[in-house]
Amino acid sequence: MCGIVGVVGAADAPAILVEGLRRLEYRGYDSAGIAVLDEAGGIGRRRAEGRIARLDALLSEQPMTGHIGIGHTRWATHGAPTEANAHPHATARVAAVHNGIIENYRELRAELQAAGRVFASQTDTEVIPQLITALIEQGLSPVDAVKAALVRFEGAFALGLVFAGEQDLLIGARRGSPLAVGHGDGCMYLGSDAMALVPFTREITYLDEGDMVVLTRAAMTIYDATGAEVVRPRRQTELSSGAVGKGGHRHFMLKEIYEQPAVIGDSLRTFLDPARGTIEMKEMPFDPGRLTRMLIVACGTSAYAGMVAKYWIEQLARLPVDVDVASEFRYRDTPLTAGEVAVFISQSGETADTLAAMRHARAGGVVTIAVVNVPESSMAREADLVLRTKAGPEIGVASTKAFTCQLVTLVCLAISLGRARGTIDTARDQKLTQAIAEVPSRVADVLNNDGRMRSIAESLVHVTGVLYVGRGTAFPIALEGALKFKEISYIHAEAYAAGELKHGPIALIDDGLPVVALAPSGPLFDKTASNIEEIVARRGRVILITDEAGAARLSDLVAEVVVLPTVDPVVAPLLYALPVQLLAYHTAVLKGTDVDQPRNLAKSVTVE
Ligand code: F6R
Repeated sequence: MCGIVGVVGAADAPAILVEGLRRLEYRGYDSAGIAVLDEAGGIGRRRAEGRIARLDALLSEQPMTGHIGIGHTRWATHGAPTEANAHPHATARVAAVHNGIIENYRELRAELQAAGRVFASQTDTEVIPQLITALIEQGLSPVDAVKAALVRFEGAFALGLVFAGEQDLLIGARRGSPLAVGHGDGCMYLGSDAMALVPFTREITYLDEGDMVVLTRAAMTIYDATGAEVVRPRRQTELSSGAVGKGGHRHFMLKEIYEQPAVIGDSLRTFLDPARGTIEMKEMPFDPGRLTRMLIVACGTSAYAGMVAKYWIEQLARLPVDVDVASEFRYRDTPLTAGEVAVFISQSGETADTLAAMRHARAGGVVTIAVVNVPESSMAREADLVLRTKAGPEIGVASTKAFTCQLVTLVCLAISLGRARGTIDTARDQKLTQAIAEVPSRVADVLNNDGRMRSIAESLVHVTGVLYVGRGTAFPIALEGALKFKEISYIHAEAYAAGELKHGPIALIDDGLPVVALAPSGPLFDKTASNIEEIVARRGRVILITDEAGAARLSDLVAEVVVLPTVDPVVAPLLYALPVQLLAYHTAVLKGTDVDQPRNLAKSVTVE
């Protein structure tokens, strides 16, 4: 949440800050701003409500020049998304950008106000420049003032700071929220992640938890949480600076939906050995045969991938699985057993709740597996085993390709566990491997339904709600479909296990509530078909997503049928994820919402 960028020693600092912010806009887009030191060393600021484009327009009207500065794109936590609450926050001496929350800001603010300091915003962030300024006025150097201030702040944060009159000093600090340093030619950069920095440099140093970094145009000095000077490695980032175009598509979300055949294939190749026709997972840091349960923890769409994995692991590896959303897991005080295994799923690898849950589990002696898409993320660096999804950068706020890449990785995990535990026989193993190897091309076939999903979307633009139902692995896909639909179209949608309808939600059914029913052929098809009949009997308008056999059985009954390829029921969720993405996308486009950056959301949720 919120993106930070900083530069010292640049020829044109404002241009670099705006370009960096554009690449971080996925982290929040309620407001944006930059602070740059002018030739005399004074702090100048430009801030605007809304997207980076508005900040850019403001800079065209009121240009700035300078060689050092900081920038911020905000996802509002404390204080409305107004210009006054936009970062950077500043006094005449110090400007600060901040990602995270200063939990004790009320006490600090009261203390500083009692000492005569006047605040200009309602944000928690403003205590940062105010406190540092007070410490500088007491005679501390900027570096010592920041060190002294950091020990007073409670909560999770990443900071970027510049100081009036200090043309060669940029300070960063991280506690809980990520921060990276970019090494340029005669200049240094600071960014929430490497994504912001790749247009300028590929040489990145990631700060560790509790680090503070002092940057000049020629040098980097890092202090750890104890104040000791430390050296952190410098690495070449794998990210590509050109990876953020829309590739001819109208939206990033559509481009990312269309990338799925390729990126599912890329993710699969990590585990699929085509020569031997087997799925191999690299050495697992635990004995699968001794496990008595597995935990899966994640948020949002990633948690729905975890729910699908529960069905797979229980069925294929005969291992009980508990799935939890991270914000509940970390505070529920659930008993943990040293040596048990927990899987943490996250596209960004930075989601605050999932990261905290992973740390909590590690502290309890649990072996941690991270399924992450961003290779250099905190979770990727801290887990005992990393299973990388190869979705590539996902820019659309609504997750699409990262979800299906998580699914393909998790089905490989389930099969590998099953093989290691002796619960899948060779014939089944081979059949499943074959079915999984064909997923990329089957997913490409599913995309042929794009036009059909668009025409169905036309009938949904004016509805007030949509219900999604499914059984087995189609249930979490129904949950994901409803989430995708509501988050980008702003139309209410919810999902139920089809068998649960008669325990309450069936009361909602009438001819005004469209019901999207996901019903692949398989052992549960007849059960779902009965539920669909119950809906139709109450004048419900069913949009059925099924395969040929399902269509043959139910097409006379329902309002719309979308026919997907017939596949092994195990891999069906990988296919059924796509039509619900397309339905959400087209409905949102027809409604005219901001598909790639839906209101109130951010791509990487680094506050709890
Ligand atoms: C919804 C969506 C979110 C994320 C969630 C977790 O489309 O994208 O629900 O799945 O915020 O994010 P990660 O996977 O980065 O931990």
